[in-house]
Amino acid sequence: MVKALIFIVIMFIGFQFITIDTKENLPTNPKDEIAVSNDIKTILKRSCYDCHSNNTTIPWYGNIAPSSWLVRSHINDGRKILNFSEFNKYDVEKQKDLFDRIGGAVVIRMPLPSYVWMHPKAELSQEDRDKLKAWSESEYQAR
Ligand code: HEC
Repeated sequence: MVKALIFIVIMFIGFQFITIDTKENLPTNPKDEIAVSNDIKTILKRSCYDCHSNNTTIPWYGNIAPSSWLVRSHINDGRKILNFSEFNKYDVEKQKDLFDRIGGAVVIRMPLPSYVWMHPKAELSQEDRDKLKAWSESEYQAR
């Protein structure tokens, strides 16, 4: 029993040496940020920006392995797929594709459930979902 405990403690300490490099804030040119109404911006900032922008907030458990691996890979992967702070740098095809995906993603998958569990305020209401869907659809049509 004691050995098992010592093993777990040593493993936990060992985990801390395996880190994922994620910068909380990356340099951003305001010109590259997606242009949206204040209404939509408020929703995106509240529910999406922690993984899909250059300005995120890494919570305390984002600094402790193994939860840090999850938090940081979500941010890195989220930014890679869709970064609202870099949106104007994407070509029209990519923007169109992303608006198409946003409409689908906000039906159920986004924001990620594990994130909402720790950030209840980020949960999208039905009204938020409808707004994001209508917005992404009209942006899709406009391109
Ligand atoms: C906790 C981090 C996190 C949050 C918050 C989050 N996302 Fe994501 N998002 C990801 C990750 C990671 C992926 C890539 C893996 C996946 O598709 O599950 C992704 C993928 C996506 C995709 C691509 C899906 C596809 O079909 O390829 C879209 C679009 C998207 N997110 C939109 C949003 C929107 C809109 C919000 C806010 C309402 C949001 N996300 C909130 C982490 C997040």
